[in-house]
Amino acid sequence: MFKIPPVSAARLPELLRAMPKAELHIHIEGSLEPELIFALAQRNGVTLPYASVQALRSAYAFSNLQSFLDIYYAGASVLLHEQDFYDMARAYLARAVQDNVVHAEIFFDPQTHTARGVPMETVIHGLHRACQDARAESGISATLILCFLRHLSEEDAFATLEQALPWQDKFIGVGLDSSEVGHPPEKFARVFARCRELGLHVVAHAGEEGPPAYIWSALDVLGAERIDHGVQALHDVALVQRLAQNRTPLTVCPLSNQKLCVFPNLKDHNLPQLLEAGLCATVNSDDPAYFGGYLNDNLVQVFAATDMTARHAYQLASNSFEASFAPEADKRLWQHRLKEVFELFVEHDY
Ligand code: ADE
Ligand code: ZN
Repeated sequence: MFKIPPVSAARLPELLRAMPKAELHIHIEGSLEPELIFALAQRNGVTLPYASVQALRSAYAFSNLQSFLDIYYAGASVLLHEQDFYDMARAYLARAVQDNVVHAEIFFDPQTHTARGVPMETVIHGLHRACQDARAESGISATLILCFLRHLSEEDAFATLEQALPWQDKFIGVGLDSSEVGHPPEKFARVFARCRELGLHVVAHAGEEGPPAYIWSALDVLGAERIDHGVQALHDVALVQRLAQNRTPLTVCPLSNQKLCVFPNLKDHNLPQLLEAGLCATVNSDDPAYFGGYLNDNLVQVFAATDMTARHAYQLASNSFEASFAPEADKRLWQHRLKEVFELFVEHDY
């Protein structure tokens, strides 16, 4: 067992930034910064219902998930061409490298684009090329996860899967996102069964705003290997036991939860309790352009607001590798590098 060195509160932010980590819950459309939205709107001749970057940014005051999704889908309307998807993903990956993210599993929402007449191929090729080029340039490992929008029908999800299958080699799994309450996982039982048959990894948003029952059905009906958010699990003792026993990862997004009023304040976030309960919790950015921060901002701010220490930091980074769908050899290498970085923070009394 690796012994975590004590690290003073003053040096903890530096350690959080320096440690290698994986990001497992990032919606690429949620990485579109207002400046890029306006640049793409101009490039593509799209008219936005906001006069300026500042006017758009000042609309980012959300009361719940739906109030955010309405603006998020409007922002994505500027994406039309393969180069737009490429530019968006390259910008995110460059930012992730600055945060010492060594591996990213990136969600994309094809229905947001195909419903506007953008071909599936345009979306997937632009994003995939960005992942390849980022890896060649900076070594970051990046893969894609196709998400179905749960406010749409299962039939629409099936049609989306059909359209994407010619490029199945370019995404590693499927997820389920968008408006949670009123759209339980069971609604997508058949399409997820098909995805499992196809050998795709399966994840699902559950227990963000929705009840623990949605987490149970994400696991038991969809066969989810990871739960996105899952913070409502703590209301159900038997569920916590099940998640802990199976080491089912939760991809937690503190700034998202704060901005969407899932918790009144970051100091009230239950991440410390999730870790203390032995769950494989990880920290992620969700929609960083909308929620005021990328992965390191999430870590630094949630640690500043709660009483977590270097021990929790190590656990979170280690969990992020354990929870990833990366090859075991890569995971071992990243876990080794994580230890090396922590050793640099041992405080000597000379
Ligand atoms: N799509 C983008 N961000 C999301 C979130 N936090 N929850 C559900 N769907 C989303
Ligand atoms: Zn999400």
